[in-house]
Amino acid sequence: MKIILLLLIIFCVCEYTKSANILVLIPSPFYSHQATFRPLWRELSKKGHKITLITTDLMEENENITQIDISNVYELTKNNVLIEILQGGIINMIRKGLLMVDNFFKYILTNPDVKELIASDKKFDLFFVELLIPAFSVLSAKFNCPYIGLNSMDPPSFIHSAVGNAIHPSVYPFANLGFGAELSFKERLISTSVLVVMSTMEKIVWPTADRFFRKYIDYDLPDAHHIIRNVSLVFSNANPIFFPAKPITPITINLGGGLHLMEPKKLPKDLQDYLDQSKDGCIYFSLGSTINSNYLSRETIEIFRQTFEELAPMRVLWKYENETLENKPHNLEIRKWLPQHDVLRHPNVKVFITQGGLQSMEEAIDSAVPMLGMPFYGDQKNNVKKMSIKKFGIALDVATIDKKSLKDAILELVDNPLYKKNIEKLSAISKDQPMTGIEKAVWWTEYVLRHGGTEHLRSPSADIPLYQYFFLDIIAFVILVFIVLILLVYYLIKLIRTIFRLVFSKRNKVKTN
Ligand SMILES: *[C@@H]1O[C@H](CO)[C@@H](O)[C@H](O)[C@H]1NC(C)=O
Ligand SMILES: *[C@@H]1O[C@H](CO)[C@@H](O)[C@H](O)[C@H]1NC(C)=O
Ligand SMILES: *[C@@H]1O[C@H](CO)[C@@H](O)[C@H](O)[C@H]1NC(C)=O
Repeated sequence: MKIILLLLIIFCVCEYTKSANILVLIPSPFYSHQATFRPLWRELSKKGHKITLITTDLMEENENITQIDISNVYELTKNNVLIEILQGGIINMIRKGLLMVDNFFKYILTNPDVKELIASDKKFDLFFVELLIPAFSVLSAKFNCPYIGLNSMDPPSFIHSAVGNAIHPSVYPFANLGFGAELSFKERLISTSVLVVMSTMEKIVWPTADRFFRKYIDYDLPDAHHIIRNVSLVFSNANPIFFPAKPITPITINLGGGLHLMEPKKLPKDLQDYLDQSKDGCIYFSLGSTINSNYLSRETIEIFRQTFEELAPMRVLWKYENETLENKPHNLEIRKWLPQHDVLRHPNVKVFITQGGLQSMEEAIDSAVPMLGMPFYGDQKNNVKKMSIKKFGIALDVATIDKKSLKDAILELVDNPLYKKNIEKLSAISKDQPMTGIEKAVWWTEYVLRHGGTEHLRSPSADIPLYQYFFLDIIAFVILVFIVLILLVYYLIKLIRTIFRLVFSKRNKVKTN
């Protein structure tokens, strides 16, 4: 009887790790942030875990995945609102920015399904939350469960700092600054100032975001900056061969950047034929899912069109949103949408013209296609800089592009074998891993489920303040001691001299007397 009971208990414990109730919230309205982690939800659901996914972009469901649609958050970025906010003066920027933050929380937290879920006494064993906006992490306290932070790219410095990773600004500058390796004095000065300004701003921004968050939720929850330190794991979808390799504590899990990479699929027949027949090579051109080719000026589009025409017999495949292009040359195909990774895998694709988005770049590295990078915003500038430093691509500025520079760059990429060689090497290295990113993500997720968190893996570096981390107090103390010593020596010498003089003059007096 006892044995049966014991077996029953063991069975229950095993069952628990086998099938957990998992809540996922990815609030930011960017397709790439959502799509990056879909393979993980698929995989976890396949293993029998029940996933409740709150997302702006619905994926396919199955018996183990239910979703809450918050796609109305896309209202926030409609009609180039972001650009409008950035252009209209500082007061306007703050006013509109605050309104945007308010709306952001409103759209999500007043959503009836989200409201019902939070109000319910549903139990979750684990909470995944995108950490770009730390306010939402406090829901882990509401559901009283451990949580894992998601980052579709390299996490921002406040997250690295919250788990104790290296954030030294002379070595790991803020990505959007676009600095390469080995910073000059000026770059280090800028990078350090940015870190100081950003960590100061957090002290203002977080409580503000928390206030908006609380406007729509009436539970007694701790502050986000307490909860952020309680994160069980940080999933980072960044590739260390690509980002400056940085010392990380055991609770930062580097998924290697390839999470969204899929097994090859067959191309649609027309595309397959087009690429097969591109015996002289094909250039693939796409600006990704967020930047529309229509953002390019008419003149720029004309530059591309003419250059492509001149590159015949080479062929071009362009992800272009319009149905037609005036005077479309014979060697150019346009499509509104393309299965990018499978196109890049085709051996006749010689060059990829890209905005330098992380996911696009990873697909190109995976398929070993040299890139021509034209960055627009965010981390793209930094990514493109990397490709030109490491010589697996060339950078061009879309604002100053002309026919000659475009054609020269493309021909350099096609004719100079250096680029292909470098990216093949990078591709081989990026695939040489003990386990795939998705296997790692699943294993660590279940690790947190088995142990109820990762308290035992936390590093003390997470908890010391910046001035201690950079030993500013030690430096200040040493300088102080040094100054005191110098002063001491100075006054001692002065004293000795005075005494000496006194004695000497007395002697003289005695002598003259
Ligand atoms: C859902 O989970 C069950 C176990 O609870 C499993 O047998 C089933 O295969 C899963 N379904 C899918 C579609 O993965
Ligand atoms: C693309 O199409 C839109 C409308 O469908 C039009 O306004 C725009 O001018 C077109 N762009 C180009 C470059 O032809
Ligand atoms: C921190 O996380 C642990 C589990 O990982 C949980 O038991 C604890 O209550 C959390 N603390 C707060 C303040 O939420």
